[in-house]
Amino acid sequence: MAVRPYLSAAQYEWALPFYDPASKILGLDSARRELVLRARIGPKSRILDIGCGTGTLGVILKSRHPDIEMIGLDPDPKILRRAQRKAKRAHATLDLIRGFSDTIPLPDESVDTVFSSFMFHHLERHEKSNTLRALVRVLRPGGNLLLLDFARVKSGQDAFWARLWAPTARLKDNSEERIIALLHEAGFAKPAVIGHCSLTFGISEAAIYQASAPSR
Ligand SMILES: C[S@@+](CC[C@H](N)C(=O)[O-])C[C@H]1O[C@@H](n2cnc3c(N)ncnc32)[C@H](O)[C@@H]1O
Repeated sequence: MAVRPYLSAAQYEWALPFYDPASKILGLDSARRELVLRARIGPKSRILDIGCGTGTLGVILKSRHPDIEMIGLDPDPKILRRAQRKAKRAHATLDLIRGFSDTIPLPDESVDTVFSSFMFHHLERHEKSNTLRALVRVLRPGGNLLLLDFARVKSGQDAFWARLWAPTARLKDNSEERIIALLHEAGFAKPAVIGHCSLTFGISEAAIYQASAPSR
């Protein structure tokens, strides 16, 4: 993997151990569970979680569907080590790969479902388009993408959150209209917002998107 800059889950390394507890308090865990409930997972599916972070989504998915092959991809080696430890504690097998979401080291049409949970706002504009094109490539025809990310911050709160946490500065480029347009551009069929979840005690909201890889 060619190393290049990326926005990690926690702005400061010392903050990484607090990522999971903070996520829980701020409502991200229940949003992830909602995302998983929305997915239709077939038996023995091959599932990819891009920007898998500490592996929470993979562990939830494996507990509900033990027969799936669960792959987690993230460029951050420290967070992947955490994910590995978490998976071991949960007796869940996760195949963790170090890499970027726009250069996925998997063959064409080899994945049934892709999940993206609170990672899309970490990407630069060009990385978003390139990532979605990479997903169209690795998904089997008709395979699904389920994407969960911050959608809105109550007006006037943007500057506060951006100061508190660098990735939120990129939220301006993360509106529902923009993500749906990018999904169309990348060639996904029927992109749609299929749900919303309240976060951070009602200050912000996450949207759940679903789109299908084109049948070829
Ligand atoms: C806020 S965390 C979300 C982690 C996890 N999906 C969750 O729900 O908790 C964002 C993750 O995206 C990863 N990330 C940042 N840039 C990336 C890229 N270009 N490709 C893949 N992952 C990336 C970060 O390392 C981080 O682990």
